[in-house]
Amino acid sequence: MEKNKKKIMKGIILAGGTATRLFPLTATTSKQLLPVYDRQMIFYPLNTLIKAGIKEILIIVAPENSGQFLNLIGSIFEKIGVHIEFMVQTSPRGLADAFIVAEDFIDRDDVVMILGDNIFEDGLSEAIKGFEKGGLIFAKDVPDPERSGVVEFDDENRVVSIEEKPQNPKSSYAVVGAYVFDYRVIEFAKSLKPSARGEIEIVDIQLKYLEINELKVEKIEGEWLDAGTFDSLLDASNLVKEKKLYKNFDKTIEKAILNYNQKLKEIAKRKII
Ligand code: DAU
Repeated sequence: MEKNKKKIMKGIILAGGTATRLFPLTATTSKQLLPVYDRQMIFYPLNTLIKAGIKEILIIVAPENSGQFLNLIGSIFEKIGVHIEFMVQTSPRGLADAFIVAEDFIDRDDVVMILGDNIFEDGLSEAIKGFEKGGLIFAKDVPDPERSGVVEFDDENRVVSIEEKPQNPKSSYAVVGAYVFDYRVIEFAKSLKPSARGEIEIVDIQLKYLEINELKVEKIEGEWLDAGTFDSLLDASNLVKEKKLYKNFDKTIEKAILNYNQKLKEIAKRKII
């Protein structure tokens, strides 16, 4: 990065992985391209980033599905002010690997990483816009915290502990799949050792920021879904319909989808002639 260049907030959507829990749906496409009500899942994390004012977005995909992502999103944001890039994660080495794959993209800027299967009702916009340095995670009070990362905090909302899918959770707050870090995250990710399941874990990145006393947590009130199972995928579609969440899309996304539709119509017209 040029000296004196003002740092900006960039966005990453992690949309790789094997999604074996959704087999056979994921035998023919990526989980993040499966439908949630009236559009593909990937539009939800894209919406969260775009609503937070982020204009540079990297989508990390698995090699076998990269063409499908490119076909859907590769050209529809052109001329509407959002720059989308793609990188391939050659194998699912863990969530923290996203920051190593994205090293050149992040450069010396700040970054929000959203998991491609996480759907948020509310924007995380204010917290993202107010980010200064260190790490910021978001916590949601849930009935089944043992299915997620779990954060425990004190009366003044300071993080006390974070554990990945603990059998005996110390709080009912799940760490949702949206994380904001400054560029030091790249070095932290590179320094991690794989866990017992052979992945470099996002929880270990959070612990690095906790160790240096630079990890903040914000509670979120709106709905949050991790659409990684058959039930949660169905719940996501039902919720979008019932709560009319399809009305929450930023106009940039609506315009991009309209662009796509127009392009398809033009191609169809050319074929008829
Ligand atoms: O959804 C929030 C939870 O996400 C957090 O509470 C946990 O702390 C965090 O570890 C994560 O847990 P999951 O079990 O849901 O992570 P999963 O392995 O399902 O991966 C999340 C997404 O990231 C999924 O869409 C696939 C993608 N992924 C995963 C890995 C391991 C990649 O693109 N590359 C990878 O290497």
